Amino acid sequence: MTSLLFSPVTIKQVTLKNRIGVAPMTRMSASGDSIPREDVLQFLITRARNGAGLVYNEAIVTDYESAQGYPGQARILNQNQVDAWKDVTDEIRSHGAVSVCQIFHCGRMAYEGINPANRVIAPSPVAPMQENPMTGAPYPVPEQMTRFDMDHVLNGFVETAKGVVAAGFDGLELHCAHGYLLSQFLSTYSNRRTDAYGGSMENRYRFIHEVIQAVRRVMPEDRLLLVRVSNWGIADTEVSLFSGASEWQQMIQLFAKEPIDAISVSTYDFAQDAFGTGKTMAKVTREVTDLPLLICGKIYDRNSAKNALTDADLVLSGKSMLLNPNLVSDIAADQKLPLYGSEEAGVAYTATPLP
Ligand SMILES: Cc1cc2nc3c(=O)[nH]c(=O)nc-3n(C[C@H](O)[C@H](O)[C@H](O)COP(=O)(O)O)c2cc1C
Repeated sequence: MTSLLFSPVTIKQVTLKNRIGVAPMTRMSASGDSIPREDVLQFLITRARNGAGLVYNEAIVTDYESAQGYPGQARILNQNQVDAWKDVTDEIRSHGAVSVCQIFHCGRMAYEGINPANRVIAPSPVAPMQENPMTGAPYPVPEQMTRFDMDHVLNGFVETAKGVVAAGFDGLELHCAHGYLLSQFLSTYSNRRTDAYGGSMENRYRFIHEVIQAVRRVMPEDRLLLVRVSNWGIADTEVSLFSGASEWQQMIQLFAKEPIDAISVSTYDFAQDAFGTGKTMAKVTREVTDLPLLICGKIYDRNSAKNALTDADLVLSGKSMLLNPNLVSDIAADQKLPLYGSEEAGVAYTATPLP
């Protein structure tokens, strides 16, 4: 009998052959042209060839002014960049997999000198508490975004979405997780605004609503629009970005009213308790929406993947997909597999091509 994991699932008009996907993973390999190294692009194609139903690329930054937070990040804002990704999406499709492009703006996670226009902007002038591991120095206090800045950033999302469509991706994901710009708007930890974009959850959500509406308008109906959310951020990892399950669910209900096709929930560990409810993050999310759900966090073998599907429709794997080119067939064969840590995943940022 085919397991649920290896049965197809359809999201809108897009059918995935199984429920195992490659999680989005930034590789920092692009040079001045903002196009990733060839072996980094080949890594995605290999994962499609080896059976992943869904392949996310690395998070793409949305402008040349203030979006970038790490060296070597990629963009899809000109024809050369579109052409480079078109080859990748064609190959992924030829292997029967679905491609999704994640796009984001780093907001206050940027630092001096990393962006061509050298700006660090965020909902509020509040820096993360921890030092920036990229510089060994405190993050700068960001400039509070004006309406002009918000329009500029919005435009970056729209222009990048046009690039994503032209590059042939089956879907686009707005990265609203991990403490980057859109996540910064959503959480009171980083959003202290007193205008229509701060305060209540509805207000903090307002800019995301504008981005979703604007991006959807430039996407053909047959392409998927997804969002990724999390209760944690890359900086100040111990901070809960939301006060509890009810605030989280209020946010999910706002997302559920949008023209989006799925929600991806990012956790450290899919099985961990959400907000002291005794339920998983996926379960707490599913309680308030019928949208297809993707879940990620310590899904590394058949058992974890099977368990994670209890409260979700698709599972994503990060470090195991990175380090094991045969993860999907190994899961199918129920091989005993290792749970990798962050240190081993550091190879993602080196020039060593991954198998
Ligand atoms: C090298 C690396 C780069 C990552 N880059 C991104 C990214 O660009 N966008 C994102 O949403 N998550 C990113 N993540 C997080 C993963 O998508 C995933 O949520 C995380 O690794 C937990 O899943 P795992 O336990 O299967 O590794 C990254 C993770 C790794 C290891």
